[in-house]
Amino acid sequence: MKRDFIHITDFSTAEIKEVLELTAKIKAYVKEGKEYTPLKGANMAMIFAKPSARTRISFETGMSQLGGHAIYLGPNDIGIGKREAVKDIARVISRYDDVIMARLFEHAHMLALAEYATVPVINGLTDLNHPCQIMADIFTVLEHRKHLDDLKIAFIGDGNNVANSWINLAARLPMHFVLASPNGYDPDPQILAGARKAGLSIIDIVRNPTEAVKDADVIYTDVWASMGQEAEAEKRRRDFIPFQVNSGLMKYAKKDAYVMHCLPAHRGDEITDEVIDSPNSIVFDEAENRMHVQKAIIVKLMLG
Ligand code: CP
Ligand code: NVA
Repeated sequence: MKRDFIHITDFSTAEIKEVLELTAKIKAYVKEGKEYTPLKGANMAMIFAKPSARTRISFETGMSQLGGHAIYLGPNDIGIGKREAVKDIARVISRYDDVIMARLFEHAHMLALAEYATVPVINGLTDLNHPCQIMADIFTVLEHRKHLDDLKIAFIGDGNNVANSWINLAARLPMHFVLASPNGYDPDPQILAGARKAGLSIIDIVRNPTEAVKDADVIYTDVWASMGQEAEAEKRRRDFIPFQVNSGLMKYAKKDAYVMHCLPAHRGDEITDEVIDSPNSIVFDEAENRMHVQKAIIVKLMLG
């Protein structure tokens, strides 16, 4: 049975820990200049229906470091779900390549891709979630804090794809996850209900960012308008202004709280220069770790 990574919850708690351990090893190999090429000759097709910097570069570089190769298919190449049915392209790519990574708009298309592909499918972001990002994020938190005990994450902003994946992680690892979002910008209700039902974590949704950041180990934020929501950007900016992560808000946080952002950041909107460039910010470690954790995910899916 082939395995896919479409949601954080596709992995058990033990598997998430295993991937985090493998990530640490893989990162150390890179730092020590040691070769780790278990995927010699393997090919990955990367389907991008939306733009990307980190996801493309980290997967492409990661595949090459693993001894394999990655093929970039941009927004004008396949026309997934429009020029060609998802189930057809899933079957076609499976005849050429050993693994697929996709960044799509509709989550239903990602599910169909995984259903019809006979090779592993990795989700590189949909409108619903962004699981690789949150695997990199939790690895980064572990690397800096050295442990994940008594973890409080304060997510300030939109209950978007990134927030949804954090909530999925809270269904697998115990934490206190607080989202401070304006009314009308809550996370996916099914994901929220599922994570609360799992019973491992406390998940709160509040409207007051100063309340959320109190005693948090990590202050996390993301853009106010995600890719595909450009037409709503002005309205969103008005709604989200009280949710800016700035030095005023940081006064309510612990002095040593980490600041994280999946990037790209809209400096001056959801986060100010002084906060993203402060010593508390670990955003570039977070970006780097995308590559190391994704290599571990690819190895886990392809080699077990
Ligand atoms: N964080 C992230 O996924 O970045 P890109 O959109 O640049 O890939
Ligand atoms: N929420 C953002 C994340 C980008 C990595 C978006 O979907 O555009």
